[in-house]
Amino acid sequence: MQKTVCIGLGYIGLPTATMVAGKGLKTLGVDINERVVDTLNRGHIHIVEPGLETLVREVVQNGNLRVSTKPEAGDVFLIVVPTPFKGNHEPDITYVEAATRSVLPFLKEGNLFIIESTSPIGTTEKMQQLIYSERPELKDKIYIAYCPERVLPGNLLYELEHNDRVIGGINEVSTEKAMEFYALFVKGQLHKTNARTAEMCKLTENSSRDVQIAFANELSLICDKAGINVWELIELANKHPRVNILQPGCGVGGHCIAVDPYFLTSDFPVESQLIAKSRELNNYKSFWCAEKIKSAMLEYEMKHALKPVIAIMGLAFKPNIDDLRESPAKYIAQKVMQSEPEKILIVEPNIKEHPVYKLTDYREAYECADIVAFLVAHKEFKALEWHPEKVILDFCGIFKR
Ligand SMILES: NC(=O)c1ccc[n+]([C@@H]2O[C@H](COP(=O)([O-])OP(=O)(O)OC[C@H]3O[C@@H](n4cnc5c(N)ncnc54)[C@H](O)[C@@H]3O)[C@@H](O)[C@H]2O)c1
Repeated sequence: MQKTVCIGLGYIGLPTATMVAGKGLKTLGVDINERVVDTLNRGHIHIVEPGLETLVREVVQNGNLRVSTKPEAGDVFLIVVPTPFKGNHEPDITYVEAATRSVLPFLKEGNLFIIESTSPIGTTEKMQQLIYSERPELKDKIYIAYCPERVLPGNLLYELEHNDRVIGGINEVSTEKAMEFYALFVKGQLHKTNARTAEMCKLTENSSRDVQIAFANELSLICDKAGINVWELIELANKHPRVNILQPGCGVGGHCIAVDPYFLTSDFPVESQLIAKSRELNNYKSFWCAEKIKSAMLEYEMKHALKPVIAIMGLAFKPNIDDLRESPAKYIAQKVMQSEPEKILIVEPNIKEHPVYKLTDYREAYECADIVAFLVAHKEFKALEWHPEKVILDFCGIFKR
């Protein structure tokens, strides 16, 4: 039976290692963060994901999943570590490199080495070179492949098993070996390609989403100036059988769509014009929303000769989650706070407390505020009633007015 070693036990690595162990394969989960390893060894998890804790406890108890801060020998190595960008929007693959270096002493002939981290094109080949230069005796004796992850947090366990996967090896035999491995736990279809195409595929998926959202955001800017209801416009345009426009919002956030397109724009600055412009436009939309709120504050003050109470409705990067990473709503909240309003009520119904923001109940904030800015279309907000006497800035289509 194959032994799998999974390097990185975060949002993707932990469910993956657990899923593999759940199929009866001996698995070692490795994370450099001792707190993560301690938490897992106590039968708990450090991330929020429905159903995962029960499954982790099961595979830890039956011995199929062990966790450690140190790698050891195995048959399949999975690299599932972060790939953020640096200050200048250049991809940072140092985590992938460090993870690869950490398994170097344990690699042996016949092993399968797979990178799952979202990576710039050519990363798998770079790791291949690193492995061969440090362990030349392994040249052409191990299998190396790339297989990106496209799961949705909140539905990870289902999607890990049922989503289609794109698998690309550095050569055909590596692709075949990786296909055999994923066939052990994936029910979705497995699609063969080469490593570079698989890397590009992940970046394409998220860039495609970013470009489509940018189009909707651009429409919202045009409509605001033209005095047209953008929500009605998009609904009507989507009646065309071959048109499917997404909904505008207050920008694009999260650790994927707002990050991955930079892996293309940074390496292909001349070719990726549309992708770069879309990134810029989605960032601009957040700035524009903040400016709109500030203008509304000024108008209110001039009209009423007193400063308004502002409600910022939502901080998460998308509806109905508690994740604030790269959140445009958080950026807007900060901008508005900097303009020193009389009182600002911050609302995020998916979080109980926050170290920086004092949170207010959404009904209370909606009642008390003079100006209400809806930034995230959380389900709680959709149950609120339109208040004609308030200034409502609806950037995410709560009322679609
Ligand atoms: N989270 C998502 O929804 C999602 C979806 C698709 C793809 N991805 C990609 O998957 C990759 C992992 O993302 P994530 O969300 O799981 O990240 P994460 O930050 O939740 O987890 C990464 C883990 O790796 C550990 N780590 C870092 N360096 C290590 C090393 N050298 N050895 C062992 N452990 C190490 C960290 O301590 C951390 O616990 C990224 O490339 C991300 O872009 C994420």
